[in-house]
Amino acid sequence: SGGADFIVVANRLPVDLERLPDGTERWKHSPGGLVSALQPFLQRNSGAWVGWPGVADVEVDKFAEDGIWLHPVMLTSDEVRLYYEGFSNGTLWPLYHDVVASPVFDREWWNSYVKVNQRFADAVAQIAADGAIVWVQDYQLQLVPAMLREQRPDLRIGFFLHIPFPPTELFMQLPWRREIIQGLLGADLIGFHRPGGAQNYLWLVRRLIGLEPSRGAVGVRTRPGVVQVGDRSVRVGAFPISIDASGLDTLSRSRDVIQRTRQIRSDLGNPRKIILGVDRLDYTKGIDVRLYALQELLSEGRIDPTEVVMVQLATPSRERVEHYQRMRGEIEQVVSRINGEFGRVGHPVVHYLHQSINRKELAAFFSAADVMLVTPVRDGMNLVCKEYVACRHDLGGALVLSEFAGAAAELTSAFLVNPHDLDGVKNAMESALEVDPAEGRRRMRALRRQVLTHDVDRWARSFLDALQPSSELLS
Ligand code: UDP
Ligand code: G6P
Repeated sequence: SGGADFIVVANRLPVDLERLPDGTERWKHSPGGLVSALQPFLQRNSGAWVGWPGVADVEVDKFAEDGIWLHPVMLTSDEVRLYYEGFSNGTLWPLYHDVVASPVFDREWWNSYVKVNQRFADAVAQIAADGAIVWVQDYQLQLVPAMLREQRPDLRIGFFLHIPFPPTELFMQLPWRREIIQGLLGADLIGFHRPGGAQNYLWLVRRLIGLEPSRGAVGVRTRPGVVQVGDRSVRVGAFPISIDASGLDTLSRSRDVIQRTRQIRSDLGNPRKIILGVDRLDYTKGIDVRLYALQELLSEGRIDPTEVVMVQLATPSRERVEHYQRMRGEIEQVVSRINGEFGRVGHPVVHYLHQSINRKELAAFFSAADVMLVTPVRDGMNLVCKEYVACRHDLGGALVLSEFAGAAAELTSAFLVNPHDLDGVKNAMESALEVDPAEGRRRMRALRRQVLTHDVDRWARSFLDALQPSSELLS
């Protein structure tokens, strides 16, 4: 039929359209872990990607980039406000991240979410070949599986959630809980990072969807890992996502990166120790936590500001959403307090960048950092910590990692911390800064063993194998 055989659907395309002040436009790499994970995989296995180009009100024709066909879906500026900033990032994001900020339940936002999900489903239905594999991504598109099945029962539909799936008692707050559970049930396979997410989903299916056929409806039954919807089985399971580990390992060994690493250390004044944070500027990431910990360690004289420098890279994100604005204000205030109190002219203690940087530059920062701080209060997986490990072929560096990141289940040789326990964070930072070199290498070796053997190809392959056991898509 000439359509696409393998389609990824995500709110965002892997590239974002950027309009420069002089009116010209260019495409740049999109932010976030979803794109980092899926883009290298798609480049190796030709496919199509349906998504939004990142700006409102622009219609762009499909185009090919790096071996992927990109099919842009248009959002109006109202839809960006209601569906994207509103329901996706003002309702679902905080609700699914343990309500660390209060979710807003707004009916207008919901209506827009339904409408935009339908547009994504329609776009896929139009380009999919007979029997194609469609892989729907993340919380912005949870209604797409059922909407798509309705039009195209011939398709094989997978869904993967890149953020945590919340405890059932939190999910039950959602006025549209039934619609979401039902929307996902349109898939043949629903994937989460953690087994707990899959269990929570199955519990909600039992609780919210009729168990027996009634008034002509289709009966739904669950057994471990499976929901039976009439004669259709929906598999539900855990698939912890990962990174292009060998790609980063190779990059970090390149001459360019090694030179740039040296340059960064020297630009920072060749301090005895460099501490690094790399995150989207998001209130779930605990950037504030690590800054408060640093501030106290400096005040107590446990860290010497002439020996230790911290770099915090905070990529701009969702800047029109109120909670993000508030968190940015708070972070910038603590940074300037620390520098005001403990810095010297030409030697700030914290180097704060509200910018996005590319992979190569990132690899150099990872290679330069003696201590990497990853302290989210909740994170589905967190790829940054895996990227740090992949870049440390020298077995140097120490990782401080929050127990509340999905990655903590795999990276058990990190310095694990509870980000709500400030004293615990301070102690872990101190231990990581002063770790005995042999002990540090032992930990990093164990971390690398895990990350290099569980890369993103393995993740994608295991998901697609479960979706389509006889798939010939992948070599
Ligand atoms: N990243 C990037 N440039 C930056 C900061 C981050 O490319 O300036 C990438 C980073 O390498 C990682 C992703 O953004 O691949 C962040 O993924 P993660 O899962 O850690 O967090 P998310 O942003 O998805 O919540
Ligand atoms: C997280 C989400 C992704 C999202 C990314 C960037 O990784 O799981 O779905 O694309 O953050 O956020 P943004 O709102 O800029 O797309």
